Amino acid sequence: MRYLTFALGKGRLANQTLELFEKIGITCEEMKDKNSRKLIFVNEELKLRFFLSKGPDVPTYVEYGAADIGVVGRDTILEEGRKVHEVLDLGYGKCRMCICGPKEAAPLLKHHELIRVASKYPNIAKDYFYNVKHQTVEIIKLNGSIELAPIVGLSEVICDIVETGSTLRENGLTVLEEVCPLSARMIVNPVSMRMESDRIKDLIQRLRTVI
Ligand code: PRP
Repeated sequence: MRYLTFALGKGRLANQTLELFEKIGITCEEMKDKNSRKLIFVNEELKLRFFLSKGPDVPTYVEYGAADIGVVGRDTILEEGRKVHEVLDLGYGKCRMCICGPKEAAPLLKHHELIRVASKYPNIAKDYFYNVKHQTVEIIKLNGSIELAPIVGLSEVICDIVETGSTLRENGLTVLEEVCPLSARMIVNPVSMRMESDRIKDLIQRLRTVI
């Protein structure tokens, strides 16, 4: 039996994924050691390998088959647009992709104005404005703290993740439109899906019983 390799996005999602896997008897004790600098962890008994990577790299590893299976947020899957099969909504990491700004910016979204949109997700923003709203906009890619953009006058609105809404509230901004709901998803390499179909389908089945 060959190893099935999992790529997990670093951070909170990875911890929740390991907790979920534990519920179906898949454990990887080595991975819990916070002081370890190891990058890849093996469960010899179950013939599984796990590694952590930056979230946006997870779909890349899975598309190229360096990982058979990946767990990452739907935001990253949509933004990266890789050729992978999305097979399961894991139900955690729930939040929303939204267009946000000061409430005064609301009319700018109604009259096809040429506005600037700052986002860490330029592809999602472009798809929403061009293909859903048919509004021509200028998209400005940022790498974080997106809420700053409308406050300092870089853009009229932002396209960003809203979870509790407290970052928006504390900065005088509000949700103007919802783009789509988000949560953690399991993705699979299309070739692995065929070659390891029994093992992967069994895994999905067992995960379904605990989600
Ligand atoms: C995300 C997102 C918002 C915030 C939303 O940022 O970009 O800024 O969380 O959460 P809330 O609705 O619960 O306030 P993150 O903390 O990932 O950091 P970033 O700004 O560097 O992207």
